[in-house]
Amino acid sequence: MIFEILTLFPEFFSSPLKQSVVGKAIVKGIIQVTAHNLRDFTLDKHKTTDDSPYGGGHGMVMKVEPMARAIEALKAGRPDATVVMTTPQGERFTQKTAAEFASLPALIIICGRYEGYDERIRAFADREVSVGDYVLSGGEIPALAIVDAVARLVPGVLGEPGSSESDSFSAGLLEYPQYTRPEEFRGMTVPEVLLSGNHASIEKWRRREALKRTFQKRPDLIPLADLTDEDRAFIEELKRGKV
Ligand code: ADE
Repeated sequence: MIFEILTLFPEFFSSPLKQSVVGKAIVKGIIQVTAHNLRDFTLDKHKTTDDSPYGGGHGMVMKVEPMARAIEALKAGRPDATVVMTTPQGERFTQKTAAEFASLPALIIICGRYEGYDERIRAFADREVSVGDYVLSGGEIPALAIVDAVARLVPGVLGEPGSSESDSFSAGLLEYPQYTRPEEFRGMTVPEVLLSGNHASIEKWRRREALKRTFQKRPDLIPLADLTDEDRAFIEELKRGKV
């Protein structure tokens, strides 16, 4: 899968893209990530990418021409790419969005800066996404979050197939608690069932813990989760405070 990032700070990406899961996926050639400097798509001597807003007001606004030129140049090479604009005004980027993006051949991710985008830039984007209800200084951190969340879902990126399936959110639930050695640490022990070797009991316990966690920490996710009748019965017990 191809990721093309349009940014005023291509250097921002150099270290994060060398690390861990994403770094390895790039080395293995499963994904390709390129950060393009938006200034390379300006035509004036000063390589201007921003200007003051019509109508007055503070701050600067990203100009439409370099952005349009850049997107068109990248799309000429990748006509099947989906253009994603990072903005706090976008739809919330969730695990579901990540899975959807992972099935695409290529993403062009646009990073904003300054006070905002010239409204006409929106005409060049297929999707507008926000990584949360807070304002960052630019779209670079959101772009990295998108690359990371999407890349780990691309087949072959994670070592073991299926290892992203137990991640939090993938079934619409938070992940169950995990433990590793030692069996006891400062009086805190590993739940007995995990030492039992009984896979059916372990699976059942994990499912219930995932439900319990989600119910306690993120009750807003429960109505959206993929639940069986047994799950629903367990949630009813949780509501009645029985477990
Ligand atoms: N740019 C600035 N803040 C952002 C956010 N929360 N999500 C996406 N892009 C942004």
